[in-house]
Amino acid sequence: MSYTKRRIKKGPIIILCMLVLVIILVVIGINLYKKYTSDEYKLSEKGYKEDEINEILKFDEKYITYAINHDYEDDFIPLIKEKYFLWKNYDKYIKYIDDVYGNKKVDYDKVIALVNVGANNEPYTHTKKTNMDKGYAILVNKYNSLPDKYAPEDIVEMSNWYAYPNNRIRKDVYDAFKEMSEGAKEAGYTLIVNSSYRSYEEQKEIYDDYEDSRGKEYADTYAARPDFSEHQTGLSLDIFSPGANMSNFAETETFKWLSENCYKYGFILRYPEGKEDITGYSYEAWHYRYLGKELAKKVYDSGLTYDEYYAYYLDD
Ligand code: DAL
Ligand code: ZN
Repeated sequence: MSYTKRRIKKGPIIILCMLVLVIILVVIGINLYKKYTSDEYKLSEKGYKEDEINEILKFDEKYITYAINHDYEDDFIPLIKEKYFLWKNYDKYIKYIDDVYGNKKVDYDKVIALVNVGANNEPYTHTKKTNMDKGYAILVNKYNSLPDKYAPEDIVEMSNWYAYPNNRIRKDVYDAFKEMSEGAKEAGYTLIVNSSYRSYEEQKEIYDDYEDSRGKEYADTYAARPDFSEHQTGLSLDIFSPGANMSNFAETETFKWLSENCYKYGFILRYPEGKEDITGYSYEAWHYRYLGKELAKKVYDSGLTYDEYYAYYLDD
């Protein structure tokens, strides 16, 4: 019996093994390259934990790039998750948090609101001119001033049927108020305008009176300086029920109806309770600002002050 010895050729096997090895090394190399160049890896190198990285990766490229290129920042994720976060204000949010909170727990919602409206600065220290192209949507507050001694051109007298004597307002606002007044009547309430358009000089007199009698800080809580008042725009009305005044109007049923329905007629409550640090003024249950029906509804639905709404949606 004879056996045929099968000769195994070693050459091809060695080549095959080397090929497999090369493939394995290439795959490992690609994976390592992918890992070390991935956003996940770069973020972890910055000190972000896995759950934080997953949060950051939900945001668009510019947020991820920022986190990769800057030192780990405690406030980064809580800030970018806020609904009204504005990227252009990021450095201001961080500075405000450092200046005001130190090591205390941060109220991010509040930081965003205050910085967005400019209230991280002292009132009247960082002012710009109101963008008058916005029409009925113009923003006038302690950081946005009217053109010098601004006076609207379409001012009309209000009849004593709707207002105490010597009240004037812009024509469209008057028409909207008349409609609102009818709506109030149908619901069983009477509205009466106590103050309306005020010229630069009239606003100055009011502010100066407050300042002379109670000082600047007090005056700034209750009255706007001339060129910084909504009353000078001819778009705002102080509204009461007959006989009510500043100290008791907020407790009336008329106020309840007015504050809940005014947006249907194009008005908003401009200085709400609890938002004094954002608006810069004490709660004014009587001060209503005309925006037009469409915008007034949007602002009402947002639950924001007009300062916040404008900063987020209308400032460009
Ligand atoms: N009372 C409001 C803020 C004004 O003077 O315009
Ligand atoms: Zn007012």
